[in-house]
Amino acid sequence: MPRAAQLVGRTAELAALDEALSELERGRPSAIELVGPAGIGKTRLLAELGARADARGHLVLSGSASELERDLPFWVFVDALDDYIAGIDPRRLERMDEAVRAELGQMFPALSAPQVSASQALHERYRTQRAVRVLLEQLAATQPLVLALDDFHWADSASVDLAVALLRRPPAAGVLLVLGARPRQLPERLAAALERAHRDGTLSRIELGPLNREEARELLGRRAEDPLAVELYDESGGNPFYLEQLARAPGRRGTASAEVTLGGVEVPPMVAAALTEELTLLSEPARRVLEGAAVAGDPFELELAAAAAAMPEPDALDALNELLRLDLVRSTDMPRRFRFRHPIVRRAVYDTTRAGWRLSAHERAAQVARLARRDRDRARPPRRALGSPGRCRGDRRPA
Ligand SMILES: Nc1ncnc2c1ncn2[C@@H]1O[C@H](COP(=O)(O)OP(=O)(O)OP(=O)(O)O)[C@@H](O)[C@H]1O
Ligand SMILES: [Mg+2]
Repeated sequence: MPRAAQLVGRTAELAALDEALSELERGRPSAIELVGPAGIGKTRLLAELGARADARGHLVLSGSASELERDLPFWVFVDALDDYIAGIDPRRLERMDEAVRAELGQMFPALSAPQVSASQALHERYRTQRAVRVLLEQLAATQPLVLALDDFHWADSASVDLAVALLRRPPAAGVLLVLGARPRQLPERLAAALERAHRDGTLSRIELGPLNREEARELLGRRAEDPLAVELYDESGGNPFYLEQLARAPGRRGTASAEVTLGGVEVPPMVAAALTEELTLLSEPARRVLEGAAVAGDPFELELAAAAAAMPEPDALDALNELLRLDLVRSTDMPRRFRFRHPIVRRAVYDTTRAGWRLSAHERAAQVARLARRDRDRARPPRRALGSPGRCRGDRRPA
């Protein structure tokens, strides 16, 4: 699906970003973290911020971290700045002192300074941090600068240190630093530094939540009360990426019965790919419990997920904590009952399991559910024990 031409919703967030741009014009440095789960719209909002800043005559430099470039020191900053500094008048850079230029020469291919030995700069990050601060001040001397660094949860460690240093001691001139990230996937050190900066008031946080029903309908270009829009919303939980992908899934269009919601609709390939990427973060036991949970149901009881995963409950509980931390599953009002982040997440996980394993996992869960029911029935007064049993939750299949 082509990107929705119009940005939908996000009114409060845009107002906050516009305000940050106005502050920037007043010459005040500031920093914002734009956080939310995969597919919620961080990159899209950063693009909108870039367009708005550009329209106001600001310099916008954008870079993003990537899973594959985690070993390249300062990659995110190089990505954002290198092309730009390669193209500017060298005299602007000559205004910076020689030591600073030498440091920058170690970092940016555009300024490569072969006469400086590698050991001199790269291993002394604080000097590089200082040099980058000077560079940003230099670039921002003529026009306000927006430095937008996306996917920062994947940033290499030198970029993380540099961002933390810039938060602690922001550039003097008008620089707005914006970090886009999935908060549950941040390295601990960065999460702690961001939290500290947030508490100190040097970093503001914009947290993107799901779109509401009306916004989702608008994104899908559907009329009010369109049953398909309602169905897609329920399945996606208002996540724009899931919404878009589900809307284009084959066999979806025009089918809106409840049966179709649960039956036979394949997980869109892009959603499966995005989830696969998230699942690579999991330890082996967490992955097993997640698969067990996909078999157990949504919501699911820990006991049944553990049984389906063929894992002792205390181990399953540890694994579950990992799943909660990464926001793949969430708590419910019931103490030992959990649910998937969105129904589509359960279906995607379910689909990744092998058919043979799935059968035995369903059987294990069903057996535990039967035992639990029998125990419950025995504990009840005889008259009620004659009532018809509830549905066996361990038997439910998502598709
Ligand atoms: N407010 C919105 N209005 C219209 N389309 C949106 C909106 N938010 C997101 N989208 C669309 O939803 C999809 C996912 O958004 P986006 O790529 O920005 O998510 P993200 O938060 O950056 O995800 P990730 O963490 O995976 O990078 C994109 O196609 C984007 O254009
Ligand atoms: Mg993104």
